[in-house]
Amino acid sequence: MATGTPHPQDLADRTVVVIGASSGIGFATARQVRRHGGRVVMAGRDPRRLGRAAEEVGAERCVPLDAADTGRLREFFDALPGPVDHVVSTAGSPFYATLDDLDVDEARTHVGERLALTLGVAKYGGAVVRDAGTLVFVGGTGGRRPGIGTSVTAALTAALPALTSSLAVELAPVRVNLVAPGFVDTPLSASLLGDRLEERRERLRATLPIRRVVGPDDVAAVILHLMVNEAVTGATYDVDGGQQLVPP
Ligand SMILES: NC(=O)c1ccc[n+]([C@@H]2O[C@H](COP(=O)([O-])OP(=O)(O)OC[C@H]3O[C@@H](n4cnc5c(N)ncnc54)[C@H](OP(=O)(O)O)[C@@H]3O)[C@@H](O)[C@H]2O)c1
Repeated sequence: MATGTPHPQDLADRTVVVIGASSGIGFATARQVRRHGGRVVMAGRDPRRLGRAAEEVGAERCVPLDAADTGRLREFFDALPGPVDHVVSTAGSPFYATLDDLDVDEARTHVGERLALTLGVAKYGGAVVRDAGTLVFVGGTGGRRPGIGTSVTAALTAALPALTSSLAVELAPVRVNLVAPGFVDTPLSASLLGDRLEERRERLRATLPIRRVVGPDDVAAVILHLMVNEAVTGATYDVDGGQQLVPP
């Protein structure tokens, strides 16, 4: 039985599926799985970006997939050659809009797809994970602080820990866990902030209790810990450098 802190080769002979693997947190997770001796199956929407990432990581397979398409998600898991040890899904993006700018139908679609994606990975992914393996989802801490324009993200931020703990009971002995990052320095953050990225990094370096910006490898390290530590299920782990503890 594997317990405790990850160490080299503790994922040897383990197979890990990473959905959202071509960039950011998912890419860092796939790379760390390989460093720890595991095999990785990588999925993401853009086949070219995915192919490049899979080559760099040395993936066992890469499969273009839009995880918001439940039918494709089911086919993806059905087509895996056998059971796997862990499934990680980082697929998703935040939704920010003030009520003035909010398109209610767009918000409905976003919330529905985000919940359906998580439920789809649980239903079809959970069926192929070996006992004591884990499903790891990625949510966020961003919506925990009330703010203008964050209502949709706040609602999902609150929903995902509840969903995770219920799934952990239903899917046992497969474990289900959630990682909730604050700001992470990834291509997603770069695209959201544009020319305000460096200013944001500077502010975080000055104000975060850890005095540095959180990177994708910091989040991936917690995801790997959740694979290896078989005592953890139904949990939400915040990885935000203490961002919630200090004024915005
Ligand atoms: N970065 C942050 O500061 C931060 C903070 C809190 C929470 N998060 C959350 O953490 C997760 C990962 O963020 P990140 O910063 O690593 O983003 P990222 O750099 O944009 O990477 C996202 C990955 O997911 C894939 N993806 C997106 N939608 C998908 C879908 N429907 N099906 C399959 N693959 C999909 C993307 O590739 P394709 O586009 O080619 O599919 C890409 O490989 C997101 O859910 C995000 O909301 C991020």
